[in-house]
Amino acid sequence: MSKKLLLKNDHIAGINTLPVYREHGGYTVLANTLKNLTPDAVVEEVKKSGLRGRGGAGFPTGMKWSFLAKPEGIPRYVVCNADESEPGTFKDRYLMERIPHLLVEGMILSSYALGANTAYIYIRGEYFYVSRILETAIEEAYKAGLLGKNILNSGYDLDLHVQVGAGAYICGEETALLESLEGKRGNPRIKPPFPAVAGLYGCPTVVNNVETIAAVVPILELGGDEYAKIGIGKSTGTKLISASGHINKPGVYEIELGLPVEEFIYSDQYCGGIRGGRKLKAVVAGGSSVPILPTELILKTANGEPRLMSYESLGDGGFATGTMLGSGGFIVMDEDTSIVKNLYTFSRFYHHESCGQCSPCREGTGWMERILKKILDGKGTLSDIDLLWDIQSKIEGKTICPLGEAAAWPVAAAIRHFRPEFEAYVTNPDSIKDIKHYYRLQN
Ligand SMILES: Cc1cc2nc3c(=O)[nH]c(=O)nc-3n(C[C@H](O)[C@H](O)[C@H](O)COP(=O)(O)O)c2cc1C
Repeated sequence: MSKKLLLKNDHIAGINTLPVYREHGGYTVLANTLKNLTPDAVVEEVKKSGLRGRGGAGFPTGMKWSFLAKPEGIPRYVVCNADESEPGTFKDRYLMERIPHLLVEGMILSSYALGANTAYIYIRGEYFYVSRILETAIEEAYKAGLLGKNILNSGYDLDLHVQVGAGAYICGEETALLESLEGKRGNPRIKPPFPAVAGLYGCPTVVNNVETIAAVVPILELGGDEYAKIGIGKSTGTKLISASGHINKPGVYEIELGLPVEEFIYSDQYCGGIRGGRKLKAVVAGGSSVPILPTELILKTANGEPRLMSYESLGDGGFATGTMLGSGGFIVMDEDTSIVKNLYTFSRFYHHESCGQCSPCREGTGWMERILKKILDGKGTLSDIDLLWDIQSKIEGKTICPLGEAAAWPVAAAIRHFRPEFEAYVTNPDSIKDIKHYYRLQN
């Protein structure tokens, strides 16, 4: 059986309301923590847990928290990143919709640990209805003395606000998010300084993903050491995976890190195998920006070991043969999928979402979209494939924020692993079954 820490109660009717959440143990971790643990002790537990940020980069949360500057007389902020715009990722939405109080409890615990008296949840504009669910939960928490002044008579004060974005992928990048929260255009900032030193309104700030913050609740319930025993190696705990594509059972699954990828795809407990009994062709394992892997590499590493759902195993082999766990947006493609067409969809997205500050990203994403369209239109040449490779190689590492990499990596991986398919589009478009479907869509 899989271990469930975050979604153990998601099936309970009314769990989104305070009374039902409390009936099932909600806010007892908060009450115990405020009574028995100092803020520094909470940071220590999170460090011991080995929790790594669930927003994509997998940076150790306890370490990030310990970087927070604490100058006298200057406020500190905790900001929850609920922008969730990475294509293929929808686990934060599920968590907020189903168990909003888990995020609220996690926000109070994190803010207490970091000495913040004001905290924000920045949520993408398209999740407007979810923002209403959060606001209702926050209102309930204020009325019950779980937010506001002197929380549960502990002497600790916290105000928690929800801020709705306007629907821009770039506002998920933490410094663009902070700009947007300050009411400005969401352009990423040059770093350093990092938010831990100069974040929101120039004050020390921690930005964490929804799932990261929610995980603080079970960490404090179990204790950091016990949490660290779950999972595998440096991939501790559980992870929410948004599973989509050509599988029998798409949805959000909580897995214990270390689960074999093959079991995740084929077991009835999770994805339930490939739709229509077709063959697996490829998987994008961590959201649209991570490298796509063909069947033989997603199921086994280059050394023939079973590939596991963990930061290390998915990354094994670097980008030559591996990928990333990323945000856990697991997109499965069957044998009938056109990799070129899929890549065009992703590239169009990144071009649209580039903020335009850095020319390699602003121009490069447009070039990549246009060349892919040309290839799909049957007008491409073999040198266009080389040009595509050349353009992506000139974006990585040359932009203020990693949106550049997010746009370049999928292009590089698709060409690296599926070059013959690109060539077939160019040399013999009629051989591509899918291109006919593409023309049907166009005409
Ligand atoms: C273009 C771009 C979009 C991002 N979108 C998100 C997002 O929607 N949600 C998120 O948590 N992190 C996102 N990130 C990562 C954040 O910058 C940041 O690393 C994260 O919120 C830190 O939280 P964590 O340590 O808990 O993972 C994005 C990064 C980039 C470059």
